[in-house]
Amino acid sequence: MNTTPPADGAVSASAAQPVAAAPAPATPSTPAPARARPFSIRPFDAPLGAEVLWLDLSQPVSEQDFARLHRAHLDHHVLVFRDQHITPAQQVAFTQRWGKLQRHVLHQFALPGHPEVLIVSNIVENGQPIGLGDAGVFWHSDLSYKDRPSLGSFLHAQELPAEGGDTLFANQHLAWAALPADLRAVVQGRRAEHSYLKQYEALRQRNPWRPPLSEAQVQQVPPVWQPIQRRHPETGVPALFVSEHFTTRIEGLPEDESQAVLNELFALQTQPRFIYRHRWAPHDMVFWDNRSLLHLAAGCPPDQRRRMHRTTIEGDIPA
Ligand code: SIN
Repeated sequence: MNTTPPADGAVSASAAQPVAAAPAPATPSTPAPARARPFSIRPFDAPLGAEVLWLDLSQPVSEQDFARLHRAHLDHHVLVFRDQHITPAQQVAFTQRWGKLQRHVLHQFALPGHPEVLIVSNIVENGQPIGLGDAGVFWHSDLSYKDRPSLGSFLHAQELPAEGGDTLFANQHLAWAALPADLRAVVQGRRAEHSYLKQYEALRQRNPWRPPLSEAQVQQVPPVWQPIQRRHPETGVPALFVSEHFTTRIEGLPEDESQAVLNELFALQTQPRFIYRHRWAPHDMVFWDNRSLLHLAAGCPPDQRRRMHRTTIEGDIPA
C-alpha cells in the first residue's frame, strides 16, 4: 500500500466502531488484534478529483465506509483508489455496490468469464486485438447514447505504458456555469440527439481492427434524445450533457445552426480550467461520475502496451 500518511486527518467510520469482543489475551505479551488502518481521502489541487489512500478493496467495505466514499464521489466526481490488488470478480462485486452493471455493445472485448468487464487495451495478440484499443479518443460520457446512460465507470490499471496513457476528465458543472448567457438561452430546455454510430465509421477508418457492427448490435444502440442541461440526480447541480463523440444534433434548430452551437459547446466544455489529467500509477483504480464529467483517453505510443479493465454502472434517465 501507499505509505503516505493520511492527509485529511479523518478516521474511517468503520475504524471508529468498537471492535467486536475478542477472546482475552492468553498472556500479557500476546499482541492486540490488528485494527484496520483508517483510510484517507485527499482532494487534488484541480477542478475535480481526490485520491483514496489506505483502503484495500479486496476486503469487505463497511456501510459506513461506503457512505463516506459515496459522499466523496459526489463531492469530487473522480476517486482514485490507489494500489488496488484486486481480481476482476472483486472489481465487479465492488462496482455492484453502486448499482446495476451495464454491458458494452462490443461484447467481443469483454473479459472471458466476466461479460461485465470491458478490456480497454491497445495490445494485439496473434493478430487479434485483445480489447477496445481506441476507447475514449473523443471526449464523451460513457453510454450517453443509451436511455439510461452510465452513472459512473471504474477503470482498473492492469498494464501501463512507460510513456503517456493518461486519462483527462472535464467538469461539466463548471462548464454549464461558464456558458455565456446568449448560448445558454439557445440551449436551455432543448434536447440533443446522442448516437453510438456518430463516430463509429470514422474510428474504423483510423483503426481497421475495429469490428463492423452486426445488425443485432446496431439494434441495441438506437439514437436517443437527452437534455442538454442535465440536473445531477443526487446533488441537483446542473451540468452540460453533450459530447463530440456521441452528440449529433440539437432538437428544433436548422442543421447548420445546430452544428455551429454544438461546436461552440464542444470547445467550451473541455477548456483547461475544467480539467484534471490523471497520470496512472500501477494498480490505480479510478471511479468517475459520468453525470458530471466528460473524459478522454490521451493515448500512448503504439509500441507501448496498455491494458485496463472497465466496469460501468447504469444510471437514471437524465432530467
Ligand atoms: C474510456 O473512455 O472508458 C477509456 C478511458 C481510458 O482508457 O483512459
